Amino acid sequence: MAKVVVQFTCSECGATSGRWLGRCPGCAAFGTLVEELHGRDGPSGRGSGRRPERLGDVRVEEAARFSTGVPELDRVLGGGLVPASLVLLGGEPGVGKSTLLLTALGSIARGGRPALLVTGEESVAQVRLRSERLGGAEDVSILAETELDAVCATLERETPAVCVIDSVQTLYASELGSAPGSVAQVREAAARLLRVAKENRVATILVGHVTKDGSVAGPRVLEHLVDCVLQFEGDRYHAHRILRSVKNRFGSTNELGVFEMTSAGLEGVPEPSALFGSTRAGEVGSAVAVALEGTRPILLEIQALVSRTDLAMPRRVGTGVDPKRLAMIVAVLARHAGVPLGSADVFVNVAGGVRIDEPGADLAIALAIASAARGAPVKESLAAFGELGLTGRLRPAAQAERRLEECAKLGVAVALAPEGTRGRSASPRVASADTLRQALQAGLEAAREAAPDGAET
Ligand SMILES: Nc1ncnc2c1ncn2[C@@H]1O[C@H](COP(=O)(O)OP(=O)(O)OP(=O)(O)O)[C@@H](O)[C@H]1O
Ligand SMILES: [Mg+2]
Repeated sequence: MAKVVVQFTCSECGATSGRWLGRCPGCAAFGTLVEELHGRDGPSGRGSGRRPERLGDVRVEEAARFSTGVPELDRVLGGGLVPASLVLLGGEPGVGKSTLLLTALGSIARGGRPALLVTGEESVAQVRLRSERLGGAEDVSILAETELDAVCATLERETPAVCVIDSVQTLYASELGSAPGSVAQVREAAARLLRVAKENRVATILVGHVTKDGSVAGPRVLEHLVDCVLQFEGDRYHAHRILRSVKNRFGSTNELGVFEMTSAGLEGVPEPSALFGSTRAGEVGSAVAVALEGTRPILLEIQALVSRTDLAMPRRVGTGVDPKRLAMIVAVLARHAGVPLGSADVFVNVAGGVRIDEPGADLAIALAIASAARGAPVKESLAAFGELGLTGRLRPAAQAERRLEECAKLGVAVALAPEGTRGRSASPRVASADTLRQALQAGLEAAREAAPDGAET
């Protein structure tokens, strides 16, 4: 006989408590504990257990991936969808999650694999309207359902190759007392879909909403359950969207896909370097970084502005750059390269809304800031990569060869890189520097504008 127990669960971190508390013992947030009813079966003590298998005897015919028909999505997934896997796609409202997945489902269905869309957010008619705009999604099966039991039963009966749940926050299990979207509901839905997906070999993609700070709403538990977590980023006001993988059990993380939102849906951008890496010759405060995202080298324009301030604590604002990394680069510039920025605000921006997590972009960020501070443009057709050490010395960046190939492809004349970097071909010419000071000498032209006061060198 199932017994119902009352539990209080934090809606932020998922910590549980037997009684209500004003402040969560797990994450110290106030007023986040909500009451939940849990059905609990008594300990059964039965079950004979299964015999473990020898790993070498396990058959692996199932590992074949299949393409989603969207090359940029395949790339981020690590080469296609793995059957029976569970993928979580997170993203802000309106970024284009439903659009991307409907496009993928459409081409999977056209390829002869049954594809099912479970929509809890939009009506069937709304999805139909979108499919008319995108085109090519006629063969996708659609189900408007939010009851978890019904969804699982449909999956077991239909066993499609791919199923998209849009969104996991709308599903609810009626035996849990809490509202859809609450911690317990989301966790229950994901756990049950995981079981159904693995048993029936359905590749399942869950759409998840993100909270204000960018993490997938609901407990972090969800991220541990699934095989792959994808994050769809980019602001609504720009046409470009970035898809990246945060976790992937079947491929590399940090893989990057770039899309452009058009009236006909999301279109992949196979050559983002050409889009994001172009600068105008002679412009002060702009440099090109050769960053590496997963296995993909990408040229990105970095812009910097240095302006005099009367604030006691000058601002260091980075869009697309880690603030700690930016503070470090500013300090190294001041201490080791003679670019004092103590009474100047520093703003740094990465083109196209891309976020750089990789230390290999340090040198280009430093170059852009120094260019802005000295009023001297970066030399024409120059791209830079290399990690900056706290001593002012440059450290070699990973996979220099691939970065140089990307430079060659985009017609970059000179690659400014740490000592010891060698290219296989003549183009681009590698200008190597041992320290940041040498790199600035090699990378910047003579000053054209007066340096902003506060950054006088
Ligand atoms: N006709 C159109 N032309 C260009 N862009 C459009 C058009 N219609 C919709 N869009 C774009 O599609 C986006 C909405 O996409 P979509 O519904 O897939 O987002 P979503 O991430 O699923 O949002 P939600 O979280 O609300 O479900 C809008 O932000 C808009 O930019
Ligand atoms: Mg949607």
